[in-house]
Amino acid sequence: MRKNIVAGNWKMNTTFQEAEELIADILDSLEEQAPNCEVVVCPPSVYLELASDYAGDYDNLLSIGAQNVSEYEKGAYTGEIAASMLASMNMDYCIVGHSERRKYFGETNQQLALKVERLLEHAIRPIFCCGEQLEEREAGNHFKVVENQIREALFHFSSDEFSNLVIAYEPVWAIGTGKTATAAQAQEMHAFIRSLIAEKYGNQTAEDTTILYGGSCNAANAKELFANKDVDGGLIGGASLKANDFVTIARSF
Ligand code: 13P
Repeated sequence: MRKNIVAGNWKMNTTFQEAEELIADILDSLEEQAPNCEVVVCPPSVYLELASDYAGDYDNLLSIGAQNVSEYEKGAYTGEIAASMLASMNMDYCIVGHSERRKYFGETNQQLALKVERLLEHAIRPIFCCGEQLEEREAGNHFKVVENQIREALFHFSSDEFSNLVIAYEPVWAIGTGKTATAAQAQEMHAFIRSLIAEKYGNQTAEDTTILYGGSCNAANAKELFANKDVDGGLIGGASLKANDFVTIARSF
C-alpha cells in the first residue's frame, strides 16, 4: 500500500536551541491531532540525536531522516557520515541527491546510486530527489532529464530493493523561489515517473511507490497539490521551519 508522507528538509538552518524548540513544537502539535500521513523531519546531522530522542518521548509520532550520506562504507573520509552511523542511531530516512547537493557539491547519478546502495544495506529508506532546471523545462526536456536521473541512479536495483525507496520530484526552478509547480504540472510529472517505474518493475511496485512533490510547497497550496492522484505528499523546505505551517501541510490530506 502506498503511504502518504510529508517530510521537512531543514537544510542548513537552525541553531541547537532553535532546533529543539522547532521539534518540540511540531511534536506538541502532532500529539493534539495526528495527521493522515507519516511525518518526517530531516534536521542537520548534528541534531539527529536530539530529534530522535524527542520523537522517542512522543511515541515516535515523527520519523527522523538525515539530509545526506556518504557513498563510502567507512574510513578516512573526513567530515562524512556513513549509513552505518545513521543506522546505529535508528534513522528511518535519508534524503539523497537533492538538487543543492548536485549543484554545489557536484554529486552525480553514479555517486547517488552508491549512496542509495549504502542506505539500503542498512535498512534506511532513501528519499531520492529528481527534477529539472528551468532551461530544461523551457526546452521541453524535463521528462527526459528526470527519466535519466532515475534510470541512471536507481534502475539497476532489484524490485525488492526499489520498493524501499521514496521518490521526490523537485523542479529546481520551484525550490526556494515561491514559484510552485501547478497542480497539473506536478501531477503530469508524477504520473510519468510512476509509468517509468511500472515499465521497469511492474504495476504493483509503481502503485506502491510514494512520490513526493517539493518546491515552494506551503500551508496554502499543499491541499491542492496533494489532491492529485499521483502526488503522495511533499518534501518541504522553507515552510518546514515553522511548526504551524509544517503541521498544517501534514494535515492537508
Ligand atoms: P522550498 O520548500 O523552500 O522551496 O524547498 C524545497 C526543497 O528543496 C525541499 O527539499
